[in-house]
Amino acid sequence: MDFDINYMNLSDLKNIKDILASKFDDFWSYSILTDELTSKNSIYFVAKSNQEIVGFAGIKIILDEAEIMNIVTKKDCRNQGIGRLLLKRLLLEAQNKSIKKVNLEVNEENEIAIHLYEKFGFIQNGKRKNYYNYQNAILMSKKLEK
Ligand SMILES: CC(C)(COP(=O)(O)OP(=O)(O)OC[C@H]1O[C@@H](n2cnc3c(N)ncnc32)[C@H](O)[C@@H]1OP(=O)(O)O)[C@@H](O)C(=O)NCCC(=O)NCCS
Repeated sequence: MDFDINYMNLSDLKNIKDILASKFDDFWSYSILTDELTSKNSIYFVAKSNQEIVGFAGIKIILDEAEIMNIVTKKDCRNQGIGRLLLKRLLLEAQNKSIKKVNLEVNEENEIAIHLYEKFGFIQNGKRKNYYNYQNAILMSKKLEK
């Protein structure tokens, strides 16, 4: 399958409003994502296959660093390379904006995401206990080359 990656806008989010929790991920709510998409510091991308939204991801820029806020592939489209494409695009955007370091937090149980981040050169550099209710978060970061 071919996937296109483009900047995400509010109409993309509205398109998936009713299936956001059930078919993507229940971690982020529609209202938080609306705030994210309208924030001038956030940049989101959407992955589409034949006009269908199959994933999205975003970063928030804080001075010369960026935080990965979200990366999610539609449940029935996982393990087809969409997460990799989205992460690659986020990192390219960060590089283009002269970001020096990209940070993120990930649930320590989320082996698939940790594997994805490590494949892209993120290094584990801390832990936040009980960050997700009773589960710990791993802090990861990647320095970007000039
Ligand atoms: C993490 C996530 C975005 C990965 O998306 P994806 O589109 O499935 O990822 P890809 O197909 O690009 O695969 C990325 C890597 O994960 C591996 N992977 C994906 N699904 C897997 C599975 N079910 N079991 C084992 N490995 C898996 C792939 O093999 C690939 O590794 P490789 O490059 O060594 O082959 C997706 O699992 C997801 O949406 N999870 C829920 C939201 C989430 O946890 N986000 C991350 C924290 S914000």
